[in-house]
Amino acid sequence: MKNIVVLVSGGGTNLQALIDAEKRGDIKGGKITCVISSKEDAYALERAKNNGIKTVVLKRKDYPDVASYSKAMAETLTTEKADLVVYAGFMTILDNQVCSAFPYKMINVHPALIPSFCGKGFYGLHVHEAALSKGVKISGATVHFVTEECDGGPIILQQAVEVKNGDTPETLQRRIMEEAEWKILPMAVSLFCQDKIQIIDGKAVVTE
Ligand code: GAR
Repeated sequence: MKNIVVLVSGGGTNLQALIDAEKRGDIKGGKITCVISSKEDAYALERAKNNGIKTVVLKRKDYPDVASYSKAMAETLTTEKADLVVYAGFMTILDNQVCSAFPYKMINVHPALIPSFCGKGFYGLHVHEAALSKGVKISGATVHFVTEECDGGPIILQQAVEVKNGDTPETLQRRIMEEAEWKILPMAVSLFCQDKIQIIDGKAVVTE
């Protein structure tokens, strides 16, 4: 059984999707063992506690820089014996100390079809604002491995979602969560826990 550690900063609806999937038996070969939050008031912490999952708060503002925060995060993940680290709405930048300690063992859900609307500054509602101001007709979500390059790691799963006339960043965010993120994140976690994702020529290949 792989230990899944989930990193959060906010509401935690993606964490909830993972908890629900685990309860349904849809996360094969893995168990959520710890939730780490960069914010002490993140509602995601309540979701973890309500489901008897260990929580750790690692506040970014308690550390002077990205390097010292990343060192503390790498140490915590090692202490928690993480086999898989899931960024589920984790909004704090970590440096390569963490990626190199957990190579191809960290995955992120991003609320757009990478390589569109990704990279530095594209997080949360900003992603949907950018998609709407460009006028795209299709957006969606991507689950990818976390590497040194922001939102640049190998893509594991993507799901397209229709943009509708009159969408606001909030309505588009909600549709992308419901129709894409909450489905492909648990699927990718389950695939990883069953060793069904290989890296070949720098790309993620899902094997059935
Ligand atoms: C989700 O839409 C997630 O994809 C996004 O933040 C939201 C968190 O919601 N993540 C990013 O933008 C990371 N670049 P949640 O806390 O309810 O899961």
